[in-house]
Amino acid sequence: MQNPPSQLKIIRPDDWHLHLRDGPAMASVLADTAGRFGRAIVMPNLKPPVTTVLQAEAYRQRILAVLPSGMRFEPLMTLYLTEAMPASEIDAASASEFVHAVKFYPAGATTNSAAGVSNLKNCSATLERMEKLGLPLLVHGEVTDQSVDIFDREAVFIDTVLIPLRRDFPGLKLVLEHITTRQGIDFVASQDAAVGGTLTAHHLLLNRNALFAGGVRPHNFCLPVLKRESHRKHLLAAATSGNPKFFLGTDSAPHAKSTKEAACGCAGCYTAHAGIELYAQAFDSVGAIEKLEGFASFYGADFYGLPRNTDQITLERATWQIPATAHYLPDDPLVPFMAGELITWRLLNR
Ligand code: DOR
Ligand code: ZN
Repeated sequence: MQNPPSQLKIIRPDDWHLHLRDGPAMASVLADTAGRFGRAIVMPNLKPPVTTVLQAEAYRQRILAVLPSGMRFEPLMTLYLTEAMPASEIDAASASEFVHAVKFYPAGATTNSAAGVSNLKNCSATLERMEKLGLPLLVHGEVTDQSVDIFDREAVFIDTVLIPLRRDFPGLKLVLEHITTRQGIDFVASQDAAVGGTLTAHHLLLNRNALFAGGVRPHNFCLPVLKRESHRKHLLAAATSGNPKFFLGTDSAPHAKSTKEAACGCAGCYTAHAGIELYAQAFDSVGAIEKLEGFASFYGADFYGLPRNTDQITLERATWQIPATAHYLPDDPLVPFMAGELITWRLLNR
């Protein structure tokens, strides 16, 4: 058998799903992403949400203003879909050079989603314009019906929302984000080139046992929630399959320690501190490290019709310990994913 490589040089990856927050929190986390990824699709679930091209431009400027000097990074902005969004906003988004997608949060599905969509039928004119202009819809794929078991919400969403959406708008480009189930993988794989899917590192590395390992583990709680091992294996098989419909989206979602370690803790895993290394570990676990470059650096750019990056990063097989905390807010740190644990790949150049 060939020895596994001890170094891996790949074209610089992009992150096709990222939460940067705003203000001092954003300033604390931005370098983790910008040190690894060339570009990132930046989620619009701020308070209040980013619903207009003007707001997206202002948010973009705030991001660039706190980018450490010497770092190159391109934030790819998104708009937050509401039932009140006029189709003319899509014209403006499409004409802009910096808005690349519209995000669909079912109202109440997750963090800052209250202003999201209750009935997608009320967005028909907007979706029609997106279909026409080729602006992708990024989908948080979970129903919010409290009578549906939390572990079934993605599968039910596919049947009750996504399949009808595909039927009504067959040309609409869409990304099923942070896929967590076999049903999600199988849905994306069965569709034409208009449909893609992102996979997070935490859903590739952990199953739902990690939520309760020796006690409640709030830092492993995210939405959609981790699923059982058979689903994780299916996700990892899709990520390492070389199928260009599946690409990297960390869903790195920072929350202050005090809001995670609480009686009602926030959903979200912060993974940007090891945003590419965690994927390397997941791919390596099934002997598929050579599949990382396509997934991390090519297929997302191809889906969005953007040029691939041209510079490279180097990863080295070396063990390091993830710190217990990282700076976030002046009086409240964050706890990174796998805090205190060992990780087996390290980024060499930045
Ligand atoms: O776990 C999550 N956290 N899932 C989401 O969909 C949103 C995110 C956040 O913004 O914290
Ligand atoms: Zn997200």
